[in-house]
Amino acid sequence: MSTIAIAVNAAISAGAYLMTVRMIPRLRDMFIKANLFGRDLCKKDKPQVPESYGVIIGCVFLISMFLFIPIPFTFDENAATDAVTGGKPLTFPHDKFVELIAALLSICCMIFLGFADDVLDLRWRHKLLLPTIATLPLLMVYYVNYNSTTVMMPNFARALFGTSVNIGIFYYVFMGSLAVFCTNAINILAGINGLEVGQSLIIAGSVLLFNFIELSLGHQVESHQFSIHFMLPFLATSLALWKFNRYPSQVFVGDTYCYFAGMTFAVVGILGHFSKTLLLFFLPQILNFLYSTPQLFHFVPCPRHRLPKYDQKSDLLHISTTEFRLDELNSLGRLMVKVLRTLRLVSWQEHADGRIVTNNLTLINFVLVIFGPVHERVATQMLMGFQVLSTLLALFIRYPLANYFYARET
Ligand code: UD1
Ligand code: MG
Repeated sequence: MSTIAIAVNAAISAGAYLMTVRMIPRLRDMFIKANLFGRDLCKKDKPQVPESYGVIIGCVFLISMFLFIPIPFTFDENAATDAVTGGKPLTFPHDKFVELIAALLSICCMIFLGFADDVLDLRWRHKLLLPTIATLPLLMVYYVNYNSTTVMMPNFARALFGTSVNIGIFYYVFMGSLAVFCTNAINILAGINGLEVGQSLIIAGSVLLFNFIELSLGHQVESHQFSIHFMLPFLATSLALWKFNRYPSQVFVGDTYCYFAGMTFAVVGILGHFSKTLLLFFLPQILNFLYSTPQLFHFVPCPRHRLPKYDQKSDLLHISTTEFRLDELNSLGRLMVKVLRTLRLVSWQEHADGRIVTNNLTLINFVLVIFGPVHERVATQMLMGFQVLSTLLALFIRYPLANYFYARET
């Protein structure tokens, strides 16, 4: 029966793709008129590009999911109306139903808050707060529905802690943090044409691949079906956006899309019970976050934009830089830049007057430090290639290695 629900979901997703592909070019003028545009900073004449298209993608995704709500229950024998009483049977999976609605509520909330961020251009501390607010519906429903806060222990820790440990409130802290991380991690690995959508497409593809592998193995079937129901329309609408956002971008996605994508991943990771595997698919984003920490937490000066610098003559991207003197940094900041320099993870130019110039600490700039100036399209392809490699590594860790560390109980 579940295959019928997946097939209907796939058909709705195909419809969503076709609808989005037609809508995107038609709405360009409307966005520009509403002042929702940004300058494409890596082009010769810095053209105006309509921004915040994530709001359109998010809406089409929500419409697709709203239409899909009854489908899994229509084909579920446990949910069929009782022929004798005419009411819903005792076996009706209320928990699954509420879970679906709460997941959509959280994603909807994130789209709304992301759009507010695009329009109001919020500060960094607010950006951390928004996903926390948006996960509240999910966490509260999780509390009412399950409140299961036990985690499985790896084999080597079982002698000490037992097979599983109840971590209570920390489980909720973890779920909230996952949402904050997923949303912001995509937003800060951004700034060159197509990268936000490109990475999200590969993560979505990886999650789907993982879900189908698990389904074929018969593991936690319901959880993986739940994830597929979200990932297919997400992939379809994002593919439509990719058509217009890849180099040279005709539309920008805005923070709305980054938050929407991150939240959708967090929701399927949490409710699908595969948050650890999900994090493995976020390896480039984790590395970008760790590399960025000195600037994110202001140990090293952080300019408003850290995207690479465009060179008109060669049409190539060069590293963008930040400048400081060692005595301006606090001791932790000095230690951080020293470690980065010793490990040769940054470009380093020391001027006679003591000024130091290094690249802005993003994965995009790091790729340019390693490979030298490249074309914008190539930079995006390189980072997407790295995302694919990370998926392969993640699957290797998840299967051969995890089977070794986590003996299956069921
Ligand atoms: C995050 C990054 C910032 C990066 C920006 C680019 C951190 C802490 N913040 O900020 O360094 O510069 O994303 O998205 O890492 N743009 C392009 N080409 C693109 C995409 C975006 O030129 O392909 C420019 C446009 O001017 C667009 C702007 O980036 O208007 C969007 O930036 P915004 O999303 O507001 O930046 P943040 O998310 O705050
Ligand atoms: Mg952004």
